[in-house]
Parts: sequence; structure tokens; C-alpha cells
Amino acid sequence: MNLSPSEFDRRKFLATASGLVPGVMAGGALGKAFAAGPDTKSQFLQGIYAPVDSELSIGGGDPLRVTGKIPENLRGVYLRNGPNPHFAPKGRYHWFDGDGMVHGVWLDPTDTRHPARYGCRWVQTAGFVEEQKANKAIYPGLMEMPDLAKVALGQDGYKNAANTSLCWHQGKLLALWEGGSPHTIDPKTLKTLGRETFRDAWKGSFTAHPKVDPVTGEMVFFGYGPVKPYLRMGIMDAKGVLTRQSDIDLPRSIMIHDFAITPDYAVFLDLPQTFSFSNLALGKGVIAWEPRFPSRIGLIPRKGGNALWFPITTASVFHTLNAWQEPGKVVLVACRMPTYPADVLAGKANDPAPGDRPQLYKYEIDILSGKVRETQLDDPGTDMPRVADSRIGQPTRFGYTMETDFAGLRKHDLKQVTTSRLPMPSGWACGEPVFVPAPKSATESITEDEGHLITLAQPESGKPAELWIVDAKSFDKEPLARIHLPRRIPAGFHGIFVPAKDLN
Ligand SMILES: [Fe+2]
Repeated sequence: MNLSPSEFDRRKFLATASGLVPGVMAGGALGKAFAAGPDTKSQFLQGIYAPVDSELSIGGGDPLRVTGKIPENLRGVYLRNGPNPHFAPKGRYHWFDGDGMVHGVWLDPTDTRHPARYGCRWVQTAGFVEEQKANKAIYPGLMEMPDLAKVALGQDGYKNAANTSLCWHQGKLLALWEGGSPHTIDPKTLKTLGRETFRDAWKGSFTAHPKVDPVTGEMVFFGYGPVKPYLRMGIMDAKGVLTRQSDIDLPRSIMIHDFAITPDYAVFLDLPQTFSFSNLALGKGVIAWEPRFPSRIGLIPRKGGNALWFPITTASVFHTLNAWQEPGKVVLVACRMPTYPADVLAGKANDPAPGDRPQLYKYEIDILSGKVRETQLDDPGTDMPRVADSRIGQPTRFGYTMETDFAGLRKHDLKQVTTSRLPMPSGWACGEPVFVPAPKSATESITEDEGHLITLAQPESGKPAELWIVDAKSFDKEPLARIHLPRRIPAGFHGIFVPAKDLN
């Protein structure tokens, strides 16, 4: 599971999906592999979601045009993962099903001819390769029952789509999908190097949102699923060795897309978004919303010990912004919805009511009293939250989100409880904001928001995408640089920036 498309206000995108904007349909034309299929009319195969039908080699074609100037200290690669199905679906299609494709933009402002290069490749999972050989889709999507014949043979009932996010840990780039193993990717070529089991230490499902502790270098992660143990946490040390794995006792199997860490705790949300194969059999999707069950936050000691659970108001959460410790309490900031998105329940898109969109909330957990103070921090629907990687688990003042109608980026001052807005021009959609800190100087200290935001900007016309680089501190309305990419890029999920010094 990953970001719910229902979190997006699709009013304007429904128009594109229904073919009311010919340019989008032309830009998002489906390839030959989509000549026929049971669900090729899915909204998630049209408009800004429509897949591209080929890979592009890195730096191929003419040099990329840049409007503005790429900041001198921004050297490295921006990478983004997202669904890009190669074949027409076997049954009902959901945005979460498409084969992962990684898009990369390599930045080197000292190269006057090629300050930016673009390329994209599919993640070559075993299921992807199997379908290439068969020249058609073999696996069902998440809105269908898993392939029980494969399950009976001990194989995957769904294809590991490797389509959700990317993580960089100990010099390894991982493409992630929470239902299965990570895949290691070469960050210079985007070649898939193979399924990653960490020397057979972790073979099960692996979250798309692991957290790398900036102080210890540890990667804290988890796997979850519909059979016991419903939730298992793992910790990989700074050398890439699995030092801890522990089962976390949950009363029922639930969907957990994201979590958070502090120096002492892993912070989990036990919410009533339950696995339901009976729901799936009724054509309603694999997750049921059962608010009769309690919502609660769990603090799991990272070094071992009993879990502490704290009741909260009924909620549904896909993404957390961050968590940290203050004297006597733990603070969690997350994008909270009052109910699980109806479209995911029903297996189809809809237009959620404003109150059902995710909003930024702060949870202050008083460990001794057990009370949790819940504070709404912003009003419009926002998701895809990001902070500086160096603030993960640490007290945080600034966070960044994407408005759920794609209409702008938001910068949240969590201390002053204020928000700045960077609107997209009319007819453009933004993506997740990735924060890249300014390089540390030996003599000067820098503020938390000193750095750049990078986002993929999509024109709704179906014309080529642009990579936007924005000054995060001033949050000016004009990007410092707009890199004109050679073609459109389908709407996708999560990205990262890897500095050039880490690539060598
Ligand atoms: Fe996500």
C-alpha cells in the first residue's frame, strides 16, 4: 500500500481522465502493450497517471535546457520511484499496481554542456521479468485476489512492484515496495542489481518508509502482513548488519504504510484499517475500515523492552512527517485523515470530501499520564511530508508537504505554527518536495531550512515534465531552476537526493 490517490482532489484530473483534455490524452497515449485489457480505461492509466512505454538512456538526446541556474553546490542525483505498468492489467487496475520505474536527474552545475542529465529504467523484479517473457501481465493487481496457485507453491501471490519509494543506506540504493523485499539499484545506471535480503537476514515484507537515524546511522524498518506476526521491526546498524528484529504484538492485521523514530523509540500507529480478504472477495479492496476498533500510538523501545500504547481519536494515516522526544513526552507529526480513503476501500477513484483529506496534525504523547494532545497544524489537504534527513528523529522546526490537489507546496513552521505556500502555475501539478540541505561549512552554522526543495512538476497538457529547484529558506515563488526534461513523467510516489560525494 502507499499513498492513496483519493487523497488528491481529482476534480481537474477527472476531466483529463475522461478525455476532455486532448493534449493529455495525446501525451499519455498508451503503448502497444495496452492495446487491450480488462481495465485499460482505469483512471490510473490516463492523463498524468498514464505510463510511458519505454526506458530512456541516461543523458541521451540533446542537452537539457535549464531556465534559471542550478545552484552551484547542488551536485548529485534526484531519483523518484513510481508505478509505470508495462502491460495491460489482467484484471482491475489500481495506481499501486504498476511496475516500478525509477526516474533520475543527475545534476552537475560545473558541466557547462550537460549540467543535468535524465534517464529512467524499470525495476527488474522477478515478476517483471516473468511477465516480459510471457509478453503479458501474469499477476493480479491489489484489487484482485492473489494468485492462489502461486501461493500454494510458496511463491508470491502478487507481483513485487518495487514502485513506491527509494532509500539510501550504507552506499546502497534500494527500491521499495512494502509487500516484499527491496531491490538494489545502481544509482549511476539505474540497473537493477537484484533482490536484497541483507545476507538472508530479512526475507519478508519490508516497509517503503524505513528511517535512517542521522545520529547512529542505523536503519530502522519493519515488515507487516495479513498473517502472524502481523508486525515485525528490524534495525540494521551503520555497517549494514541486522542487529535486532522483534515481533510487535498487534490484536489484528492492519495496514501500516509509515512509522517514525526517535532516539529511543520506534513510533507505530495501530489504526482500524484492517486486512480483509472477505472485503476483497466482495470487490471492495483488500483493506476494510473498522472504526469500532481503537486507534492508538505505540512507542516501541528501540533497544528492547515493553511497548507502550496510547489511545487517540479514530484516525487513518498514510505518512508521518517526523517524531522526536521532549522532556516527558514524544511528539509525532503526521498527515491525519478521519477515515480511511473510500476509494481504496472500493477499489476505485472518487473525489473525497474536504474533511476526508489528510491534514497535518501534531500528537504530543505524555508518557507518564498516558494522555495524548492532538493539534491540527494546517487546514488544507496535504501529504507527502518531508523534513531534512538530518532531522529525522530529532526536534524539528520546518517540514514540507504537497497539497493534495497538486496545486502547491507548503512549508510548515512547526514552532510558530505558520505555513507558507508556493503555488504551482495554473495547469501544472507538483510532486513530493524533497529537501536537500546546503553543504555544511566548517566555519558557519546553517539554519534548518537552508537548502533546496526539489520536485517534479507536470503540465496537465501532457507536455514534458520539469524538475524544479526551489530555495527552501526564502520559499520564493519563482524556482531557482527549471530543468526541462525530454518527455512527460507519470505521477508517482517518493524520491530522494543522493549527493555526488556519496556516489563515488
Ligand atoms: Fe508512502
